[in-house]
Amino acid sequence: MTLDTLHDLLVSQLRDLHAAERQVLLIWPQLAQEATSPALRLAIADHRQETTLQVARLVEALDLLGEGPDGPRSRGMEGLLVETLTLISAKGHAAVVDAAILAGCLQVEGYELVGYGTAIELADTLGLDQVVDLLSRTLVEEDAARRRLEMIARTEIHPAAGAAVVQVGPVDDGAIPITSAPSRRRARRASNQGT
Ligand SMILES: [Fe+2]
Repeated sequence: MTLDTLHDLLVSQLRDLHAAERQVLLIWPQLAQEATSPALRLAIADHRQETTLQVARLVEALDLLGEGPDGPRSRGMEGLLVETLTLISAKGHAAVVDAAILAGCLQVEGYELVGYGTAIELADTLGLDQVVDLLSRTLVEEDAARRRLEMIARTEIHPAAGAAVVQVGPVDDGAIPITSAPSRRRARRASNQGT
Protein backbone atom coordinates (compact mmCIF):
# COMPACT_ATOMS: atom_id res chain seq x y z
CA MET A 1 0.00 0.00 0.00
CA THR A 2 1.10 3.57 -0.56
CA LEU A 3 1.57 6.14 2.18
CA ASP A 4 -0.30 9.14 0.87
CA THR A 5 -2.12 10.08 4.07
CA LEU A 6 -1.87 9.68 7.83
CA HIS A 7 -4.82 7.32 7.48
CA ASP A 8 -2.63 5.05 5.31
CA LEU A 9 0.09 5.08 7.93
CA LEU A 10 -2.37 4.22 10.70
CA VAL A 11 -3.76 1.31 8.67
CA SER A 12 -0.22 0.05 8.05
CA GLN A 13 0.59 0.35 11.76
CA LEU A 14 -2.57 -1.52 12.80
CA ARG A 15 -1.95 -4.28 10.28
CA ASP A 16 1.58 -4.72 11.56
CA LEU A 17 0.28 -4.96 15.13
CA HIS A 18 -2.37 -7.43 14.01
CA ALA A 19 0.22 -9.63 12.30
CA ALA A 20 2.62 -9.23 15.24
CA GLU A 21 0.02 -10.25 17.84
CA ARG A 22 -0.97 -13.29 15.81
CA GLN A 23 2.67 -14.34 15.44
CA VAL A 24 3.14 -13.97 19.19
CA LEU A 25 0.02 -16.04 19.85
CA LEU A 26 1.65 -18.95 18.06
CA ILE A 27 4.84 -18.71 20.11
CA TRP A 28 3.48 -18.06 23.64
CA PRO A 29 2.71 -21.79 24.26
CA GLN A 30 6.25 -22.79 23.32
CA LEU A 31 7.77 -20.15 25.59
CA ALA A 32 5.47 -21.18 28.45
CA GLN A 33 6.46 -24.80 27.94
CA GLU A 34 10.19 -24.04 27.98
CA ALA A 35 9.88 -21.93 31.16
CA THR A 36 10.30 -23.64 34.53
CA SER A 37 9.15 -20.75 36.73
CA PRO A 38 5.44 -21.21 37.59
CA ALA A 39 5.04 -17.42 37.91
CA LEU A 40 6.48 -16.86 34.43
CA ARG A 41 4.37 -19.64 32.94
CA LEU A 42 1.23 -18.17 34.46
CA ALA A 43 2.09 -14.63 33.30
CA ILE A 44 2.56 -15.91 29.72
CA ALA A 45 -0.67 -17.95 29.83
CA ASP A 46 -2.67 -15.02 31.19
CA HIS A 47 -1.27 -12.62 28.63
CA ARG A 48 -2.01 -15.09 25.84
CA GLN A 49 -5.71 -14.83 26.71
CA GLU A 50 -5.48 -11.04 26.61
CA THR A 51 -3.69 -11.20 23.28
CA THR A 52 -6.66 -12.99 21.70
CA LEU A 53 -8.86 -10.09 22.78
CA GLN A 54 -6.32 -7.58 21.50
CA VAL A 55 -6.34 -9.17 18.04
CA ALA A 56 -10.14 -8.79 17.96
CA ARG A 57 -9.81 -5.11 18.94
CA LEU A 58 -7.37 -4.52 16.07
CA VAL A 59 -9.84 -6.07 13.61
CA GLU A 60 -12.54 -3.78 15.04
CA ALA A 61 -10.30 -0.71 14.77
CA LEU A 62 -9.44 -1.51 11.15
CA ASP A 63 -13.11 -2.08 10.44
CA LEU A 64 -13.86 1.40 11.78
CA LEU A 65 -11.34 2.67 9.23
CA GLY A 66 -13.06 0.73 6.46
CA GLU A 67 -10.10 -1.62 6.10
CA GLY A 68 -9.36 -5.30 6.61
CA PRO A 69 -6.60 -6.76 8.78
CA ASP A 70 -4.77 -8.67 6.05
CA GLY A 71 -1.22 -7.53 5.51
CA PRO A 72 2.31 -8.89 5.40
CA ARG A 73 3.79 -10.65 8.40
CA SER A 74 5.46 -8.40 10.94
CA ARG A 75 9.17 -8.69 10.24
CA GLY A 76 9.94 -6.68 13.36
CA MET A 77 8.12 -9.12 15.62
CA GLU A 78 9.45 -12.08 13.66
CA GLY A 79 13.00 -10.90 14.36
CA LEU A 80 12.37 -10.64 18.10
CA LEU A 81 10.75 -14.08 18.27
CA VAL A 82 13.48 -15.75 16.20
CA GLU A 83 16.14 -14.18 18.44
CA THR A 84 14.45 -15.51 21.59
CA LEU A 85 13.80 -18.99 20.20
CA THR A 86 17.39 -19.24 18.92
CA LEU A 87 18.74 -18.11 22.29
CA ILE A 88 16.78 -20.61 24.37
CA SER A 89 17.42 -23.47 21.93
CA ALA A 90 21.01 -23.43 23.26
CA LYS A 91 19.60 -24.79 26.58
CA GLY A 92 21.63 -24.30 29.78
CA HIS A 93 20.84 -23.61 33.43
CA ALA A 94 17.05 -23.57 33.92
CA ALA A 95 17.03 -20.27 35.83
CA VAL A 96 19.13 -18.55 33.17
CA VAL A 97 16.92 -19.94 30.40
CA ASP A 98 13.92 -18.54 32.30
CA ALA A 99 15.68 -15.17 32.41
CA ALA A 100 16.24 -15.37 28.63
CA ILE A 101 12.57 -16.22 28.01
CA LEU A 102 11.52 -13.35 30.23
CA ALA A 103 13.87 -10.96 28.42
CA GLY A 104 12.33 -12.07 25.11
CA CYS A 105 8.81 -11.48 26.47
CA LEU A 106 9.80 -7.99 27.59
CA GLN A 107 11.18 -7.22 24.12
CA VAL A 108 7.87 -8.35 22.62
CA GLU A 109 5.96 -6.13 25.06
CA GLY A 110 8.26 -3.22 24.24
CA TYR A 111 7.54 -3.61 20.51
CA GLU A 112 3.81 -3.72 21.17
CA LEU A 113 3.80 -0.79 23.59
CA VAL A 114 5.59 1.46 21.11
CA GLY A 115 3.34 0.25 18.27
CA TYR A 116 0.10 0.87 20.17
CA GLY A 117 1.37 4.18 21.54
CA THR A 118 2.18 5.38 18.02
CA ALA A 119 -1.14 4.15 16.62
CA ILE A 120 -3.03 5.95 19.39
CA GLU A 121 -1.22 9.20 18.58
CA LEU A 122 -2.04 8.82 14.87
CA ALA A 123 -5.70 8.01 15.56
CA ASP A 124 -5.94 10.93 17.97
CA THR A 125 -4.52 13.31 15.35
CA LEU A 126 -7.14 12.04 12.90
CA GLY A 127 -9.91 12.56 15.50
CA LEU A 128 -10.79 8.84 15.57
CA ASP A 129 -12.03 8.65 19.15
CA GLN A 130 -13.43 5.11 18.94
CA VAL A 131 -10.12 3.80 17.61
CA VAL A 132 -8.23 5.67 20.33
CA ASP A 133 -10.52 4.11 22.95
CA LEU A 134 -10.07 0.57 21.61
CA LEU A 135 -6.29 0.83 21.38
CA SER A 136 -5.99 2.55 24.76
CA ARG A 137 -7.63 -0.44 26.44
CA THR A 138 -5.01 -2.68 24.88
CA LEU A 139 -2.19 -0.31 25.84
CA VAL A 140 -3.24 -0.51 29.51
CA GLU A 141 -3.14 -4.33 29.34
CA GLU A 142 0.25 -4.33 27.61
CA ASP A 143 1.69 -2.00 30.21
CA ALA A 144 0.31 -4.16 33.03
CA ALA A 145 1.81 -7.27 31.39
CA ARG A 146 5.19 -5.53 31.11
CA ARG A 147 5.11 -4.48 34.78
CA ARG A 148 4.12 -7.99 35.87
CA LEU A 149 7.05 -9.48 33.94
CA GLU A 150 9.46 -6.91 35.38
CA MET A 151 8.26 -7.75 38.89
CA ILE A 152 8.79 -11.50 38.30
CA ALA A 153 12.26 -10.74 36.95
CA ARG A 154 13.22 -8.57 39.90
CA THR A 155 11.80 -10.71 42.69
CA GLU A 156 12.34 -14.23 41.42
CA ILE A 157 14.03 -14.97 38.13
CA HIS A 158 17.02 -12.64 38.13
CA PRO A 159 18.04 -13.53 41.70
CA ALA A 160 17.75 -17.25 40.84
CA ALA A 161 19.69 -16.82 37.59
CA GLY A 162 22.30 -14.72 39.39
CA ALA A 163 22.89 -17.57 41.83
CA ALA A 164 23.35 -20.12 39.02
CA VAL A 165 26.49 -22.19 39.45
CA VAL A 166 28.20 -24.05 36.64
CA GLN A 167 30.95 -26.58 37.27
CA VAL A 168 33.86 -26.23 34.86
CA GLY A 169 36.32 -29.10 34.61
CA PRO A 170 36.15 -32.61 36.13
CA VAL A 171 33.99 -32.58 39.24
CA ASP A 172 36.48 -34.51 41.40
CA ASP A 173 39.55 -32.72 40.15
CA GLY A 174 39.55 -29.17 41.32
CA ALA A 175 36.41 -28.15 39.52
CA ILE A 176 36.07 -24.39 39.28
CA PRO A 177 32.60 -23.19 40.14
CA ILE A 178 31.59 -20.20 38.09
CA THR A 179 28.80 -18.05 39.43
CA SER A 180 27.31 -15.00 37.89
CA ALA A 181 29.28 -11.91 38.79
CA PRO A 182 27.79 -10.01 41.72
CA SER A 183 25.79 -7.00 40.67
CA ARG A 184 27.45 -3.61 40.97
CA ARG A 185 24.86 -2.66 43.56
CA ARG A 186 25.73 -5.73 45.64
CA ALA A 187 29.45 -5.09 45.23
CA ARG A 188 28.99 -1.45 46.29
CA ARG A 189 26.94 -2.52 49.31
CA ALA A 190 29.65 -4.99 50.36
CA SER A 191 32.40 -2.38 50.06
CA ASN A 192 30.34 0.14 52.04
CA GLN A 193 29.85 -2.39 54.81
CA GLY A 194 33.59 -2.95 54.93
CA THR A 195 34.32 0.76 55.54
FE1 LIG B 1 1.39 -8.11 24.68
